[in-house]
Amino acid sequence: MAEIRFGLIGYGAWGGHHARAITSVEGAELAAICSRSDESRAQATADHPGARVYADYREMLDAESLDVVDIVLPSDLHYVVACDVLAAGKHLLLEKPMALGIQECNELVERARHHGCLLAVGHELRLSSLWGKVKQLVDEGAIGEPLYALIELWRNPYRQGSGGWRYDLKRVGNWVLEEPIHFFDLARWYFARAGEPVSVYAQANGKRPDRPHLHDNFSAIVNFPEGRYAVISQSLLGWEHHQVAKLTGTSGSLIARWGGAMDRTFEPIHSLELHEGDKAVEVPLEKKSGEVYELVEEIESMVRAVRDGSPLACTGEDGRWSVAMCLRACESIEHGRVVNF
Ligand SMILES: NC(=O)c1ccc[n+]([C@@H]2O[C@H](COP(=O)([O-])OP(=O)(O)OC[C@H]3O[C@@H](n4cnc5c(N)ncnc54)[C@H](OP(=O)(O)O)[C@@H]3O)[C@@H](O)[C@H]2O)c1
Repeated sequence: MAEIRFGLIGYGAWGGHHARAITSVEGAELAAICSRSDESRAQATADHPGARVYADYREMLDAESLDVVDIVLPSDLHYVVACDVLAAGKHLLLEKPMALGIQECNELVERARHHGCLLAVGHELRLSSLWGKVKQLVDEGAIGEPLYALIELWRNPYRQGSGGWRYDLKRVGNWVLEEPIHFFDLARWYFARAGEPVSVYAQANGKRPDRPHLHDNFSAIVNFPEGRYAVISQSLLGWEHHQVAKLTGTSGSLIARWGGAMDRTFEPIHSLELHEGDKAVEVPLEKKSGEVYELVEEIESMVRAVRDGSPLACTGEDGRWSVAMCLRACESIEHGRVVNF
């Protein structure tokens, strides 16, 4: 069977992992890479001598016969580059946040439909053996009807990113779009049976008086129908990378924990405990969990979707919902009030 040919745009900290993931997936070929600086292109050539390396993604789109284009660029470039990729008729795997604004997300969903292309968004936690097992247990009724979820991340400060884009509001949008976006996506996924969220209240602060919109601490309460709610909380003033999800339901509860020296570690520690009646049981996981592992699953899922139309793990519509959720949380912070949907 012919390999699915990937073109990768962006070879920074996360793009390098995308490249490794593509080359590790059976049935996928890393045909071409595009990045901006001489240094990142030299690194791409050294790491992947079989891939052609470009400085201009439009040149790559013209010259290469690609099935999928994978965009791992600073977030402000997602929309414009995605439009060009879809206009070239290529299936698209787009990193989160899908775009910085809702209008842009709407257009991408519409353009993908118009050009007959798949549009997948990089919420890879859905493919995790740990966070996915939580979803499975909830859906199987292991805790009864879920009533409450806390999803919390404690970590070190964000990296600057190439050219400092992550600390530039115009380029990053806001920091809720960086990582809490994943947790909003998880909460909605876990509470799917309860229906769509109805409102959010958020609060945040930070240690940069000159840049009050770059929040180091962020918390939000997301309300679901029938009084169920999820708390999303993150601090960038901690150390390493430690995430928990705690859920309680009408007949049980569970705790999932993940920790590592950094988010991209290959050696994480993780555990999942389910509490039923009066005892807690350790739930075994089939595989290691961590974003470097989930990325491989994400590429596999993309290959299956292109090949036989299997469903995408996270669609453009899901990505758009998460962006909207982050923007509503920012609106709540700014106005100090609940935002109803
Ligand atoms: N799903 C997840 O868990 C996850 C994790 C991490 C990041 N992300 C997302 O992935 C994206 C990239 O993040 P990152 O941490 O990899 O950023 P990064 O380290 O700053 O890398 C960005 C890359 O884009 C390249 N680039 C910039 N402008 C370009 C252009 N016009 N044409 C071609 N290449 C260009 C940069 O090239 P130079 O280095 O040569 O300047 C660099 O290689 C962001 O949207 C981020 O939110 C998602």
